[in-house]
Amino acid sequence: MGEVVPLPTQEPAPEERPVLVVDFGGQYSQLIARRVRECRVYSELVHHTASPASVAARRPLALVLSGGPASVYAEGAPHMDPKLFELGVPVLGICYGMQLMAQELGGRVERTGASEFGRADVRAEEGTALFAGLPAEQITWMSHRDSVTAAPPGARVSAGSPSAPIAAFEDPDRGLYGVQFHPEVVNTEHGIEILKNFLYRVAHAPPAWTAAAVIEEETARIRPQVGRERVLCALSGGVDSAVAALLVHKAVGEQLTCVFVDHGLLRKDEAAQVVETFGRHFHVPLLHVDARERFLSRLAGVSDPEEKRKAIGEEFIRVFEEEARTLGDVRFLVQGTLYSDVIESGGSADGVAATIKSHHNVGGLPEVMDLELVEPLRMLFKDEVRRVGEELGLPEEMVWRHPFPGPGLAIRIVGEVTEERLETLREADAILLEEIRRAGLYRELWQCFAVLPAIRSVGVQGDERTYAYPIVVRAVTSEDAMTADWARLPYDVLETISSRIINEIPAVNRVALDLSSKPPATIEWE
Ligand code: XMP
Repeated sequence: MGEVVPLPTQEPAPEERPVLVVDFGGQYSQLIARRVRECRVYSELVHHTASPASVAARRPLALVLSGGPASVYAEGAPHMDPKLFELGVPVLGICYGMQLMAQELGGRVERTGASEFGRADVRAEEGTALFAGLPAEQITWMSHRDSVTAAPPGARVSAGSPSAPIAAFEDPDRGLYGVQFHPEVVNTEHGIEILKNFLYRVAHAPPAWTAAAVIEEETARIRPQVGRERVLCALSGGVDSAVAALLVHKAVGEQLTCVFVDHGLLRKDEAAQVVETFGRHFHVPLLHVDARERFLSRLAGVSDPEEKRKAIGEEFIRVFEEEARTLGDVRFLVQGTLYSDVIESGGSADGVAATIKSHHNVGGLPEVMDLELVEPLRMLFKDEVRRVGEELGLPEEMVWRHPFPGPGLAIRIVGEVTEERLETLREADAILLEEIRRAGLYRELWQCFAVLPAIRSVGVQGDERTYAYPIVVRAVTSEDAMTADWARLPYDVLETISSRIINEIPAVNRVALDLSSKPPATIEWE
């Protein structure tokens, strides 16, 4: 046994201590952290190479070891420093994490030939901590080829399945808990209760992490960072920049100025809503820049998608800079970076500085303007940002708004962007969304929007020949926009959408439905 890493002597209150998910590269590591947070316990990911000292410095309440694709006994398989088992906090190993515990602590892991993928029925023993209050027979979801064939000495087997007699073990004296199945996926019938048993009964974590607590913590963190300096925020109309701005405003009040550049590429009535919400409702100092003409003339004659993006991005920076100059000395810029961006770019909670992707809606601004970043959403997942937005009093349409690309409607108009084509698309999009909302489908869809292709076709309306644009309806379901499936919209809803668009918009005589998933298509048309 090596040197024991002591926990720092001054213990923070339990509600200030995180549950750390040690990431072994499993596809559900992020999901574990999200599920723990759903139980109102703050959780972050740490890389499996994190040093025991850096983990101890975070004063975790518990560790959860994630799944992972490797075999624990394979050469080069990810391991963690075994001193992490000696921090004096309970450890829950999931799948690979359980097998790693077994291997490191004197048990055995083997390939028995009895792999399980998908549903597995387990039987839980009586008097265990993880299965307390739950039925003995349970449906779980497993994905493993290797199995634990001997639990670590001192641990009792707490559940078994026909193929994996050791489907779970626990050793309360040493605070060690392992489950072969995935409690974090919804297919595990009592997964969330099992996690709650671990968090509340074993780790004594209080369910105290709420949107209100996040607001309090973030504002307390922003104040010393910003001091008395001035802060700028570019509002896009989307939920991330809106919530980030409100948090900063709550922290430093009028030291924050929001700049809203209306590039004329937003959906119907969106610009007015941003001005109404921030200026009149929240009293946030707001520079509303009407740059519609400017963007339109910059886009004249541009039909290549990437050229459009570039033109819009450059113009945006120019307009924003001009406005910022009128304000004088500004040192900070608010950016709505999310925790998923931080994780994706290799950032971690164990003290290693993260490089943030610069793809955001204000991409390029911090470098160009030599501004320091304030990132109040850096530790939040998208659904948590929404909950914070609700708590801050943002209107529902803004909190639950579908993602909208920075270049806006310009990349939903195939070919050249003109005022006339923008107007056509805006009207069609408004009808589409109105009907989708009316049908109660808005929140089920990841995105739903209208596309205006660069073609016209022949139709007949009121005995007259028409030669007009089609509108394409694009609706997708997705978890994260990396992949997406076309949404199966009900025929009667589609019928209403089609007939309203064709009847109410003279420039349109046809409506088509996009039946492509991503991949191979993308969500946007450009
Ligand atoms: P695609 O079309 O690549 O889109 O499947 C994936 C997600 O990204 C959004 N998107 C953009 N967002 N600037 C943005 O800020 C862009 O240039 C851009 N292009 C696509 C898209 O709406 C979807 O949510």
